[in-house]
Amino acid sequence: MKRKLLVTTALPYANGSFHIGHIMEYIQADIWVRFQRMQGHTVHFVCADDAHGAPIMLKAEAEGVTPQQLIGRIGAERKQYLDGFHIGFDNWHSTESPENTELSQDIYRKLKVAGLIYTKPVEQFYDPVKGMFLADRYIKGECPKCGAKDQYGDACENCSSVYSPTNLINPYSTLSGAAPELKTSEHYFFRLSDAKCVDFLNKWVNEHGRLQSQVANKAKEWLEGKEDKALGDWDISRDAPYFGIPIPDAPGKYFYVWLDAPIGYLASFKNYCAKKGIDFDGFLADPQTEQIHFIGKDIIYFHTLFWPAMLKFAGYKIPNNVYVHGFITVSGEKMSKSRGTGISPLRYLEIGMNPEWLRYYIAAKLNANVEDLDFNPDDFIARVNSDLIGKYINIASRTFGFITRHFDGKTSSIELSDADADSFKDLIERHGEVRYGNPNSTIDRRSLTEITKLALKNDIAVLYDRREYSHAIRQIMFQADVANGFATLCAPWDMSKIVRGEWTPWKSDHLDKKIAEKLLHWSCSVLVDQFRLLTIYLKPILPETAAQAMRLLNMSSIEWAEESKHFPAGHSIRDYDRLMTRVEEKQLDALFDIPAAAPAKEQKKMTETSKVGSQSRSQAVPSPSTPHPTSPGPAAPTAPAETISIDDFARIDLRVAKIVRAEYVEGADKLLKLTLNIGAGERTVFAGIKSAYDPAALEGRLTVMVANLAPRKMKFGLSQGMVLAASGDAAGIYLLGVDSGAQPGMKVK
Ligand code: MSP
Ligand code: ZN
Repeated sequence: MKRKLLVTTALPYANGSFHIGHIMEYIQADIWVRFQRMQGHTVHFVCADDAHGAPIMLKAEAEGVTPQQLIGRIGAERKQYLDGFHIGFDNWHSTESPENTELSQDIYRKLKVAGLIYTKPVEQFYDPVKGMFLADRYIKGECPKCGAKDQYGDACENCSSVYSPTNLINPYSTLSGAAPELKTSEHYFFRLSDAKCVDFLNKWVNEHGRLQSQVANKAKEWLEGKEDKALGDWDISRDAPYFGIPIPDAPGKYFYVWLDAPIGYLASFKNYCAKKGIDFDGFLADPQTEQIHFIGKDIIYFHTLFWPAMLKFAGYKIPNNVYVHGFITVSGEKMSKSRGTGISPLRYLEIGMNPEWLRYYIAAKLNANVEDLDFNPDDFIARVNSDLIGKYINIASRTFGFITRHFDGKTSSIELSDADADSFKDLIERHGEVRYGNPNSTIDRRSLTEITKLALKNDIAVLYDRREYSHAIRQIMFQADVANGFATLCAPWDMSKIVRGEWTPWKSDHLDKKIAEKLLHWSCSVLVDQFRLLTIYLKPILPETAAQAMRLLNMSSIEWAEESKHFPAGHSIRDYDRLMTRVEEKQLDALFDIPAAAPAKEQKKMTETSKVGSQSRSQAVPSPSTPHPTSPGPAAPTAPAETISIDDFARIDLRVAKIVRAEYVEGADKLLKLTLNIGAGERTVFAGIKSAYDPAALEGRLTVMVANLAPRKMKFGLSQGMVLAASGDAAGIYLLGVDSGAQPGMKVK
């Protein structure tokens, strides 16, 4: 049965850039979503900026901008992170939106009709200078117990006693320094303690399979309340000035940010539905639809008590599941909310680290429990290089070449006849004796064919669905181990030498060569097919690598349903191109050593000289010293350079070039090798555009090249010119295009 899923991740506060914790959450959810899509289920995957609240209002004020400008700036930088880590949200919206205002006010009105809203006066500290009520975090003073100065309003960091802000001695507002005054105002409350809410929540929380047991237990504790503290009602209003959604018929009152934030899930989905022509109400009304929220462990309270109760009593669909993850720490250290973390996601991308390394690493450590997960640099290197590359990628890199070289790129059937099995077994034994000093006594016909039947698909599917990614990866890597063991047994590298007559381990006769050739073909075909299978299993985690592998395998799709379809005999595969480079220790050094922002002058220079090709070794990818994500949006365009004469310009021979081939370069992090047709012949150019382009997407395109640039000898070969591309301070390289109709070799002037 096909599932219908609405999946969300927590809405990040719009006053700061993404940190690695956000990216981890998105990777967890994105893998799950991609997996469900591979099963043929319908998934709508949405998120949004959580735009409201006092901190955002105050931050905007401090920067001298409006809150809308602040959230606009943060909103504009989201895409580069999401694209960068291959996070495939269908929609990214904001809680500061017409949809959210409308939905929040509607839900509020319905809760009111249901008798769950009431008002009562609340006495609270007020900053007479700022003219606003103060949330506890903006009040400090002396501890009433021990007298320590500058303590927050809830607890003393010195003696750990707990109290309320009104107990502080000599309190002051951290916003203005003024002594706060106690002032009363009318607040709006959601009656969470109402028996019907408590009853409903008890049922909702306890429903089997809805929540992780740790989460359900937490929620139950809160529901039951401690002896002294029964479940309280929820203060949902804030007084002006506040950046939020006005409460209907209540001038000067706004919804507390946590009321409208989760409603933002629906607002984003509604916004998406309108764009796509999907029936929003219909989708949510369908009893088959599942609404699923991925969140971190710090916001369980809001998602398991208020949120389902609000939805329920406003007559909306209630969440099916809330999936909670732990926190990511870096080298064992908690990241600080204000300072961010030891890892900047943007820097990770800027220094050219592969986003799929991080996806793999996080998946390899994630399970379905609420457990913290540590990013450890050495562990990261080991998992990526030894497992991902050493086990999975290795299968392709050690077999594709033999198929190209010996068999014109065509695979053989992987069915094995009894006669072949016997002769292979015999050859493998003799080879083992020569190579390893002993025949491998364990092989029999059955163990040879076994690998072609290995299928862990169902296990893996269940594990993905349960978010047991680390277990799924263990299974997948186990299969990769089996495949690599099979390769060692069949030793295609030695068989190839025997076939080519480069190695004669025994007085091999003509027949041996024939068998070696057959074994070589068969074993490599089996391994290519194993690689195809493993690629299917890993696709939710490695979408880009899977797409490239699909190209190498010369397949039009790589889907779960195709797991049991083997290659037909004679299927053509492509020449092997490096799929993934190894991570280097110096990259992790660069990741952790965040340099001071480059001086503006230097950055400008780099923008101006940002050409791609043989003459520019430096600036093919964005500078690693681009400042931290908090830098403001796009940089101001740099001024044009000094003028030159038309004759100066005419000395540059610019030509329309057709990219006939685009290839990865073994050992090069940034370069693609382009073969260009410029009418009068072909040119080879190494261009630093690997970070931005998939070679397959370039073939056949027209671009512009500098045809009279002196050739330059590079590590990887001779570069005979340069293609033109645009780039700025932000990540991204954009190859120039030429309108259709132009012919290769035409002059550009
Ligand atoms: N705006 C609220 C959520 C509103 S949802 C209706 C919020 N924002 S947040 O930016 O602070 O956090 C967003 C998500 O990131 C939360 O799920 C939070 O748990 C998660 N993480 C924050 N720090 C994290 C780690 N160190 N590790 C993993 N996830 C972390 O809360
Ligand atoms: Zn104290």
